[in-house]
Amino acid sequence: MAHLFEPLTLRSITFPNRIAVSPMCQYSCEDGLVSDWHLVHLGSRAVGGAGIVFVEATAVLPQGRISPQDTGIWSDVHIEPLARIVRFIHDQGSLAGIQLAHAGRKASTLRPWDGSGAVPEAEGGWTDVVAPSALAFADDYPMPREMTADDIGGVVAAFANAAQRALAAGFDVVELHAAHGYLLQTFLSPLSNRRTDAYGGSLENRMRMPRQVIEAVRRVWPERLPLFLRISATDWTDGGWDVRDSVELVRSASPLGVDLVDCSSGGNAAAAGIPVGPGYQTVFAERIRRETGVPTGAVGVILDPAQADHIVRSGQADVVFLARALLRDPYWPLRAARELGVSAPWPAQYLRAAPRETSQRTPMRPRTP
Ligand SMILES: Cc1cc2nc3c(=O)[nH]c(=O)nc-3n(C[C@H](O)[C@H](O)[C@H](O)COP(=O)(O)O)c2cc1C
Repeated sequence: MAHLFEPLTLRSITFPNRIAVSPMCQYSCEDGLVSDWHLVHLGSRAVGGAGIVFVEATAVLPQGRISPQDTGIWSDVHIEPLARIVRFIHDQGSLAGIQLAHAGRKASTLRPWDGSGAVPEAEGGWTDVVAPSALAFADDYPMPREMTADDIGGVVAAFANAAQRALAAGFDVVELHAAHGYLLQTFLSPLSNRRTDAYGGSLENRMRMPRQVIEAVRRVWPERLPLFLRISATDWTDGGWDVRDSVELVRSASPLGVDLVDCSSGGNAAAAGIPVGPGYQTVFAERIRRETGVPTGAVGVILDPAQADHIVRSGQADVVFLARALLRDPYWPLRAARELGVSAPWPAQYLRAAPRETSQRTPMRPRTP
């Protein structure tokens, strides 16, 4: 029976354990460039023993940033600062992942600690906000422009170019962000997609754009490396996207080369009532895994080592993604190992503080491109 600290192999990549640092926006970039903050923030979670550390939602185009301070990968100058972080993560024996994103109708908005809603142009906002349909997320959000077929082609190409840059930076896993009301999810959900062309209407049509992104990314992302897809399994709203649609999406995405589905929810309906509580989204990971046979990740209020271990042992998910628990404690994986009575390797520099007989970390071997 698999457990939290059992390695997992997807394609040619072996995850040292099942704990992933969930992508978390830091809203701390200028021109999309990661900085020392990101090195220390992501680096400490690798020192803490997570199996894979994901870089936050990283915009494939400047207009696809959520806020002016988002991370970006729309040009080659973004590669080296990201590569520096990847090298550090690999040196700690962890894998490095990056979430590729386009914010769609949630672009050009304030970072959380500056308020909410649209950012004025004078403060770095932009007006060319795009979406499948001209429907704003909320009253204080930008009114998006309906995308043309050319716009869609441009975004699909931008995702592929971003994946190529992620490869050049040395990442092991790319995750496509198709959740939380950002561009890809707004194509999927009937709440935000009212198109009457080949990209709207039926489920098949609403899946077309995200499927094109997956295909384009898979053309450049090597066979030997895994591709993850983060979805919102439900809009939590009558008439919206639901878990049955998610099962269909995963059935259709898996043959295109998606190796794991990271099962989140919500974010596309401002008024949705979401029953947040411990493990509240794990049911989606469990159902999608059972009904499609595709590996899944569980995320959302996973706090305790025993809870995380149970999710893996009971086959509800293959990986757990932790966000806030790892903000509170970057060493959560080392603590979890101790609590679960499992041995996990520590950095050589910290061995004198480790439980007796703890082994030393082995760096990940750098990949040849
Ligand atoms: C500070 C912060 C930033 C986040 N940024 C992202 C992001 O970039 N991409 C994403 O898919 N989810 C993002 N999320 C959501 C988390 O990845 C995660 O799904 C959510 O917080 C639930 O997990 P938790 O209960 O372990 O925090 C963010 C969450 C937090 C707290």
